[in-house]
Amino acid sequence: MQSEEQFSITGDALTVRAPAKINLSLLIAGKRPDGYHEIQTVMAKINWYDLLFFEKTAENTLQLRCNGPCWAPDGEENLVHKACRIFLQQSKSSFGLKVTLTKNIPAGTGLGSASSDAAATLLGLNRLAGTGLTSQQLLPLARQLGSDVPFFLTGPLAMCTGRGEKINQITPKFPFGALVVTPNLSVSTKKVYENYTHNQDLYGTLSKKINTLLEKNSIDSLAKICANMLQTSCFRLHPELKALQERFEGLSGRKVCLSGSGSAMYCLFQDEREPRLEDCRSRLKEEFGCESRVVYNNSW
Ligand code: C5P
Repeated sequence: MQSEEQFSITGDALTVRAPAKINLSLLIAGKRPDGYHEIQTVMAKINWYDLLFFEKTAENTLQLRCNGPCWAPDGEENLVHKACRIFLQQSKSSFGLKVTLTKNIPAGTGLGSASSDAAATLLGLNRLAGTGLTSQQLLPLARQLGSDVPFFLTGPLAMCTGRGEKINQITPKFPFGALVVTPNLSVSTKKVYENYTHNQDLYGTLSKKINTLLEKNSIDSLAKICANMLQTSCFRLHPELKALQERFEGLSGRKVCLSGSGSAMYCLFQDEREPRLEDCRSRLKEEFGCESRVVYNNSW
């Protein structure tokens, strides 16, 4: 399955696609003195996109409008707004902006859409302003915006460490198909981390396994472990998600992994036409009111 191009130009305006991600594994090494957690996560972009439409304006103002099937704030609390401000300030650009965000990916689901929107904004404005900065040069701005933002400047598959902002790209391709289920529930990443209880033994065991597989580039085997050390905390806060995961596993006959801090979960598959998956989708919609989507790895 082909990923769509990231940038398209119409006249003076620019459209940028902001892909979602799933975490193929997420380990926590412990809490840091700065309050963040030291993590080791393998993230993969998927071909499900928010769209950002940028138009330069003569007045020196910044206008953000959000539309689409999912909600996002129009104001300064939107990371897109912050990304615009930071970029315009740093690049000393004097033009105004009208930005339209089409929100297709639900926020608070662990699919990274707000972070991806922010990264797409930096990449888009870099083009629009003709500043010609490399992804490497945009990294300091991305780090200010959030732990997951740097990944979206790079990818499509990477091992991310530190608080998530240190990116080690994984070069061999890992083609996959996944069924992503998005519960109608927005989870606070901050709360999931606050509610997390560290288990050093579990971390030791999992990191040994995962690092061995990474050395061999066995991403397939790594993904099969479905390691997500935030899952217990997320399910303690939202027990209905545990029930959903169990049902999803029963119906699909596969391991179901939580993405990031939740609420989205996914299973990998070989063939999307498998009748069992179709049945699984309609049952989860019927019993839990959950939407689901077939996605593939993104190529950029
Ligand atoms: O970096 P970001 O703003 O996306 O993080 C949201 C919240 O998640 C942080 O305020 C922090 O509480 C928590 N977090 C953490 N450790 C990380 C990443 C995020 O504790 N590695």
